[in-house]
Amino acid sequence: MVATQSVPALLPTYAPYPFPLLRGEGDRVFDDRGQAWWDFYGGHCVCATGHSHPTIVKAVSAQAATLLFYSAAAALPVRDQAAAAITAFSSMDSVFFCNSGAEANENALKLALLLTGRKHLAAFQGGWHGRTLLALSVTDDPKITEPFADQLVPALRLPFGDLAALESADFSDVAGVILEPIQSMAGIKTASREWFQALRAKCDATGALLIFDEIQTGMGRLGTPFAAQFYGVRPDLMTSAKGLASGVPMGALLMTAAVASKLKGGDLGSTFGGGPLACAALLATVDVIQTEGLMANATAACARLRQELVGSVVTEVLGEGLLLGLRTPHTAALKKHLLARNILVGGSGDPTVLRLMPPLNVSGGALIALLTAIHAFQPEQP
Ligand SMILES: Cc1ncc(COP(=O)(O)O)c(C=O)c1O
Repeated sequence: MVATQSVPALLPTYAPYPFPLLRGEGDRVFDDRGQAWWDFYGGHCVCATGHSHPTIVKAVSAQAATLLFYSAAAALPVRDQAAAAITAFSSMDSVFFCNSGAEANENALKLALLLTGRKHLAAFQGGWHGRTLLALSVTDDPKITEPFADQLVPALRLPFGDLAALESADFSDVAGVILEPIQSMAGIKTASREWFQALRAKCDATGALLIFDEIQTGMGRLGTPFAAQFYGVRPDLMTSAKGLASGVPMGALLMTAAVASKLKGGDLGSTFGGGPLACAALLATVDVIQTEGLMANATAACARLRQELVGSVVTEVLGEGLLLGLRTPHTAALKKHLLARNILVGGSGDPTVLRLMPPLNVSGGALIALLTAIHAFQPEQP
């Protein structure tokens, strides 16, 4: 008989924090010993309105008690309201609701192939778009893409923000060009407004559809509703997830009227997409972001961190709003030092950059705790 190896009931994915979490409140989470942790990681850039915001909890609880679920087989007022709210907030014209970032990107890329009849995609070095096959085709992360190399759709991989490379690229058989307007996992890489305009112009001239993956940059995080407003460029398709419904799983594929008018019923579909619970959470999220001034808070917190980190071990603050990278030669030691002071931050694909993506209502207390801890950090002498 072949002995079966014992395996954990829960398959490991990410390396977890060294303590379990039991609850969250605003910009803090609490472990099993009741200790509070300042959350500058935001549950993977998800908790836009903070942990268990009372308005979100109330909206979700009321919806759960009224109608927990019905699919798109039935018209639901809460879904229509959510569609109106997110199209107005994003300045896009139409939305398809799904369940995750990868599903939103997969559908955006699929539509680009369908609507243009072309065979190639284009993306950027360092881009990260998800783990389904089309999303993997445009993701620059060899350890997760290489096992599937034969199954992926061919994709150009251009250097991000490079005007000359953009101008000389051949988009004649490119169906869609996808990008994170600020590349997060790559280490908070930004591009100029001129480059964004050139990208829009290139797509217009060649017929390639422009797709903004706003899964991290959207929902107020840059101090504007989406990066499209921040950079002043309107994409043809825009994807959202993460903060979209404050942590209730939801994805959205937003599009212009020009794209939406070419689709027919049945081109897109999803059982759970646009479920009433997620729609109620989305409505409450947009309301909280707007009525509680969370975009202004993101801009102010960014300015404060930029100003007050001068003279610390952080040599450069990258990014915009509350999608920030702290460049330092001491990332591992600084992350450990912050953890020892009950402050959670994220790493990135760049070994010299730590990431901050806290709730958009991050408090002055959290900022002071972070600033004080960073200024107290003493790198070990070699
Ligand atoms: C920029 C970006 N796009 C897409 C995804 C995939 O989203 P999901 O994990 O919800 O499928 C992620 C997830 O981290 C992301 O950061």
